[in-house]
Amino acid sequence: MKPQLITVAPSEFTRAAARLLRREVLEACAKGDAHLMLSGGNTPLALYALLGDDPLGELPYGKMEVFFGDERWVPPPSKDSNGGEALRLWLIKRQLPPSHFHPFFGDSPDEARTKVEAALADVAGARGEPAMDLTLLGIGDDGHTASLFPGSPALDEQSSWTAETRSPKPPLVRLTVTLPVLSASRHVVFLVRGTAKHEILSRFMDNDPDVVATRVKARRVTVLADLEASSGVALLARSQGRERSKA
Ligand code: 6PG
Repeated sequence: MKPQLITVAPSEFTRAAARLLRREVLEACAKGDAHLMLSGGNTPLALYALLGDDPLGELPYGKMEVFFGDERWVPPPSKDSNGGEALRLWLIKRQLPPSHFHPFFGDSPDEARTKVEAALADVAGARGEPAMDLTLLGIGDDGHTASLFPGSPALDEQSSWTAETRSPKPPLVRLTVTLPVLSASRHVVFLVRGTAKHEILSRFMDNDPDVVATRVKARRVTVLADLEASSGVALLARSQGRERSKA
């Protein structure tokens, strides 16, 4: 299924992401509970901070299970820690029950992976597969998503739900869920903002197979982009449509 592209003004991006997350969480909780997998990197930090202030009204944190697509192998207090930043900016402030928080934390990468895989196995036990209701992801300039980088052996991992990878940029050691987990998601939303992402977003929307993020084959895929990242993507699509019609 082709990703749905939603474009918003840069000033509206964070609130649009918060509204989308809130809608997905409330819809999932109306049927039971909400399983979220959060993205790392810089783009979602403003979203986590906004949710921490909770301007859109309280979420049912007692019915939410929070996972992470990946982690940098750094101490949780580090500003580089995906789980640490989401905790500090949002989840501690809104008192998510600690047992509902499933980051890649541990005394070793293997221990952290084992804990996440056990939590994912609980989801699979209830749902038949480690299916999140909503997975937030970013897209790196090189097309990576989570910590699945171009050329990584982890891209071919079909049996393990997590992997240890190496990033071309520091922090080097990464822990990530694998494509089978990402593709099991009921809804994946890529959060993409800024002019620096325009080229890679165009390639993603054009389903360039060299863009790792295109390998996430979830039931429903949405790209929430601001106008800086998406400027021209729509024009590109229309122009390609014109080219195809001429062919
Ligand atoms: C990470 C992320 C990574 C990120 C992309 C985009 O740990 O860095 O999981 O996949 O989402 O690199 O990062 P930005 O949002 O900072 O551009």
